[in-house]
Amino acid sequence: MDRAVPASPLTARRAGALTGRIRVPGDKSISLRSLIIGALAVGETRITGMLEGEDAISTANAMQALGATVERTGDKTWRVLGVGVGGFAEPSAALDFGNSGTGCRLAMGAVAGCPITATFDGDASLRSRPMRRILDPLELMGARTLEIQEGGRLPAVVRGAIDPMPIEYEAPVPSAQLKSAVLLAGLAAPGTTTVIEKEATRDHTEKMLKHFGATIRVSSVGNHGRRITLEGQPELEAAPVMVPADPSSAAFPLVAALIVPGSEVILEGVMTNPLRSGLYTTLREMGASIEVVQQRTEGGEDVADLRIKGGALKGIDVPAERAPTMIDEYPVLAVAAAFAEGVTRMRGLQELRVKESDRLEATVAMLRLNGVEVAIEADDLIVHGKGRAVGGGLVATHMDHRIAMSALVMGLGSDQPVQVDDAAFIATSFPGFAELMRSLGAELS
Ligand code: S3P
Repeated sequence: MDRAVPASPLTARRAGALTGRIRVPGDKSISLRSLIIGALAVGETRITGMLEGEDAISTANAMQALGATVERTGDKTWRVLGVGVGGFAEPSAALDFGNSGTGCRLAMGAVAGCPITATFDGDASLRSRPMRRILDPLELMGARTLEIQEGGRLPAVVRGAIDPMPIEYEAPVPSAQLKSAVLLAGLAAPGTTTVIEKEATRDHTEKMLKHFGATIRVSSVGNHGRRITLEGQPELEAAPVMVPADPSSAAFPLVAALIVPGSEVILEGVMTNPLRSGLYTTLREMGASIEVVQQRTEGGEDVADLRIKGGALKGIDVPAERAPTMIDEYPVLAVAAAFAEGVTRMRGLQELRVKESDRLEATVAMLRLNGVEVAIEADDLIVHGKGRAVGGGLVATHMDHRIAMSALVMGLGSDQPVQVDDAAFIATSFPGFAELMRSLGAELS
């Protein structure tokens, strides 16, 4: 389903230092999970700090269409009245997830455990993304794909299992969406559902299911992997969710502050979950000044206020095994790498090809257009940092919010302004991005 609204270009240009204190919106992964798991629980889930972006709205609408009650009760405060595990009602129309791969794929898992048929659809970006990786294990659990487009693309019609079966599944790709879909389907199955991941991915589903009363066990597999087991058919009981600030959104003002000389910015309440913190580790290795000023726990997650100071960065080698902990941050890391001195090699980025756009190609195009020397070698991205970028490019965002924000961050530090063809998709994950950046002194118009 394509957007009817016209594209909205936006330009970023160099101004003075960025200064101030901001809190970025709530974490997208946790917001979407609170809607879906809240819809599967019995009772009222109260969500505070919710991301009020388009991805959350489309997921909320889908949960309503499946029989849950979802209401906004105040600023970033929502309530979900769930239907219980396996209790979704058959929706009367296609579920439109817009741009949200996470909303769509997690909902597929939740629907797979219910005896209903649902059509899954989304915008042109979501329609281009592979769904077989999710549907294959769900079919092993008893769901059926009644219709799907070539290449395993949306729209797809999925019939949930009448008698869902638990499975033990070794994930062929490191994907929290895949793991979560299997676990959510496993809620409705009797017995133990197991997911084995060779590389640990974000653990928000496991944590939230535990918070809602499910029995989940996690153990290590090898150096980087995990084995997650879920006891099926739990009484999922509604529980309050406090959403911390999204580290993937914080990445944009963070890198902006690093590359604009003289900047000093405080980012409040950023989630520091180690499975989301790879960018922070990497930037520190590059010489970035990221100081933890206050650490605390919010809603079961560690969070911190971070003080960022602009300064010189150096190129480094980013190991492939770090990729799952910073998978959404490579476009903006590539911008930081352009402003560093020396070569940065980011290894093992094959999963970037199946994001909201082919992010590997989109990142390369964004940098090249703005005078940065960059190459792809197999699955590695290599950026030749010169401590500056020429800028002057018009960047195609390909319906990808993170490409749009990365390009605009680059424009704040480049010699010439950088323009994006369409900033509208930023609202999927970071509503108010331009206003918040302007409040720090950024020039965006
Ligand atoms: C997400 C998982 C990641 C990530 C996405 C959010 C999640 O996708 O890119 O933005 O909330 O589970 P994959 O599971 O495809 O790696």
